Amino acid sequence: MSNFNEEKVLSVHHWTETLFSFTTTRDPGFRFENGQFTMIGLPVNGRPLLRAYSLVSANHEDTLEFFSIKVQDGPLTSRLQHLKEGDSIIVGRKATGTLLLDNLKPGRYLYLVGTGTGLAPFMSLIKDPETYGRFEKIILIHGCRQVQELAYGERITHELPAHEFLGESVRDQLIYYPTVTREAFRNTGRITDLIKSEKLFEDIGLPPLDVTLDRVMICGSPEMLRDLKALLEERGAVEGNHGEPGDFVIEKAFVDR
Ligand code: A2P
Repeated sequence: MSNFNEEKVLSVHHWTETLFSFTTTRDPGFRFENGQFTMIGLPVNGRPLLRAYSLVSANHEDTLEFFSIKVQDGPLTSRLQHLKEGDSIIVGRKATGTLLLDNLKPGRYLYLVGTGTGLAPFMSLIKDPETYGRFEKIILIHGCRQVQELAYGERITHELPAHEFLGESVRDQLIYYPTVTREAFRNTGRITDLIKSEKLFEDIGLPPLDVTLDRVMICGSPEMLRDLKALLEERGAVEGNHGEPGDFVIEKAFVDR
């Protein structure tokens, strides 16, 4: 059996000149855990050209969704950005990744920290009822350079709270905190600085991060991961992984497209 399925593109949404997302059909045999990624791509010169993409869709949904940057001379995204409804795309049959609820110890609040397309795995996790079952509050922090890069804001603040099954949990437990660093906005500054200054906690009305109680998932650039990981480890937090749940887990946002 092949390691890949061929899926059909159902819709494409362009957020900005450099960001887009799309949905596809889902092979009923494709199983994954929320927070994971898989390989997707297109045939190029007769061979599949594949890159890792986090699933934006949750594992209980019938379709798949992906969130991508557009790199003008990128081997895959220079082509992928021209996807249209009805086109075919290759999707791996296996998913993997460390951003799993099971890789975290039980805790009070769950902080989901994503920069840029690092938001993607958290879109899946905030649609998982289990996330709301395990933590009192879920704080989704999305950091970008510009306001227009804050993709999915509408869906998080309008669609999810109105969702038939998840809506009540979302309304009671999910806090969305978008922040930008290179123009004016209601929240500004780097996530690391907002944690250090405690401005984040003042803004959301929660006690400051306590690594003995709270858990953190991080997805973004290598620099952001390094700095936030150092901040957490200075406070005594331990990184978790498969088989060894910890206080935080990290994954690089995939940008080599
Ligand atoms: P900044 O504009 O100050 O660099 P990028 O597109 O480079 O991945 O950045 C996405 C967001 O992450 C930007 O708001 C950026 O802020 C922020 N960022 C970049 N590096 C770090 C870091 N080392 N620690 C915290 N935030 C960072």
